[in-house]
Amino acid sequence: MTATPATDPAHSGEPSAAPTDPPVDISALVPPVRLWEDGFATDPHRYYEELRSHGPVGWCELAPGVAAYLVTGHRAALDLLQNPEIWSHDPRPWETTVPGDPPVLGMMRWRPNTLFADGEAHLRYRRTLVDAFSLVEPHDLRERVRRAVEILVCRFGPKGRADLVSDFCRPLMAIVFNDLFGLPMCESERLDAALALLIEGGERAAAGERDYFRYVAELIDTKTAKRGKDLTSWLLDHPLRLTPEEVTWQVFLTLGTGHEPVANLVSNALSRILGNPDYYQTLTRGARPVMEAVTEVLRYEPPLANYAIYYSRRTFGFHGTWVRSAVPVAISFGALAYFAEKEYEGGHHPRDASHVTWGAGPHVCPVKQHTLLIAIEAIERLTQWLPDLDPVLPRERLSWRPGPFHRSLTALPVRFTPRTPEPSGERP
Ligand code: HEM
Repeated sequence: MTATPATDPAHSGEPSAAPTDPPVDISALVPPVRLWEDGFATDPHRYYEELRSHGPVGWCELAPGVAAYLVTGHRAALDLLQNPEIWSHDPRPWETTVPGDPPVLGMMRWRPNTLFADGEAHLRYRRTLVDAFSLVEPHDLRERVRRAVEILVCRFGPKGRADLVSDFCRPLMAIVFNDLFGLPMCESERLDAALALLIEGGERAAAGERDYFRYVAELIDTKTAKRGKDLTSWLLDHPLRLTPEEVTWQVFLTLGTGHEPVANLVSNALSRILGNPDYYQTLTRGARPVMEAVTEVLRYEPPLANYAIYYSRRTFGFHGTWVRSAVPVAISFGALAYFAEKEYEGGHHPRDASHVTWGAGPHVCPVKQHTLLIAIEAIERLTQWLPDLDPVLPRERLSWRPGPFHRSLTALPVRFTPRTPEPSGERP
């Protein structure tokens, strides 16, 4: 049986329960929508439509047997994100109820860091991250991205063809983040491989988690022995005196939440740009800023589709549904974006239309400006070096990596006129 909530005429056809309606137990009314199925990566919108039919708060599975509520209504999402008295980010009560070792546990289990903390502990962790990132100067970050793009274009530029996911976006972020956190470039492939397994949440997720932890532990050992001008050293020396274990988990969180979504942001933006020749020409002629394509992805195809997971401190009625404590409640940025895009279909979407892809409230992404700078610089430099990038496949035929949390292309094959950057320092 499917719940049929009323439609709210004031907000984009968004379903909302009438204030007088008693909440329903959605988990008893509908079978969970399985976000772990391969079909979710191929056609997430079908899944979001089904979830929306449950109301602003739907019922899903993140992995076989791991049930969660999924928020697909804009107002419910803001209501949740901005009420830390009701909603906790601490998964430990839920963890005690989880049978076995589901593949998504690597992404959801508690660790002593910003993301899984509430209140004072959260403020302390968050302060150290914000302070460390404030030491990264924008011109320095731009230069690091520029150098990394050149290294990669030197590798694949002469071939005249490339897969922009595996040859560009993923290795680029691994090089940039390795560099920011203080490890040499030769370590970046290890980082990339471990993170890819972890976030997909599939059978090899536990191996990915192990490899990634080993990588971070080695990084902390290296920086404990000898500090450098990098984020890890600044976290180790922060006046709030995090323990080495706390620094380890801060780095574990930040490298992971940094690398994957930015790689996906850039590849999703490139696929949108290259799939639309008019759009691409306006960009390469400089008539349209790259910022617009990046903002479009953030607004309509967020790379972190369903990874803001909260837990109610008590069982209560929330936007028409009884929400039980110790059950994950995920904000679906992917669904929010899909329904926002649908709202403007056929019309002209306002350039400044708001979105919540960075989150909201106390846990809002602290690294938004750095992310935008990295993504924009990466796309600008690439398209300057290779101005005639031509996609091999139309966008509808591209495939997407499985996993409940992200929106991530498997590959983005392109052709272009071969080019070899001059070691003499020639710049486009
Ligand atoms: C496209 C790129 C990115 C997107 C869409 C994004 C989005 C988000 C969102 C939605 C949250 C809030 C999650 C919640 O409420 O549970 C968040 C938090 C966070 N993000 Fe980002 N992020 C991006 C890039 C980055 C990067 C590059 C870094 C670091 C290098 C980063 C570090 C963090 C951290 C540490 C938090 C936790 C903050 C806290 O709990 O106080 N993010 N991000």
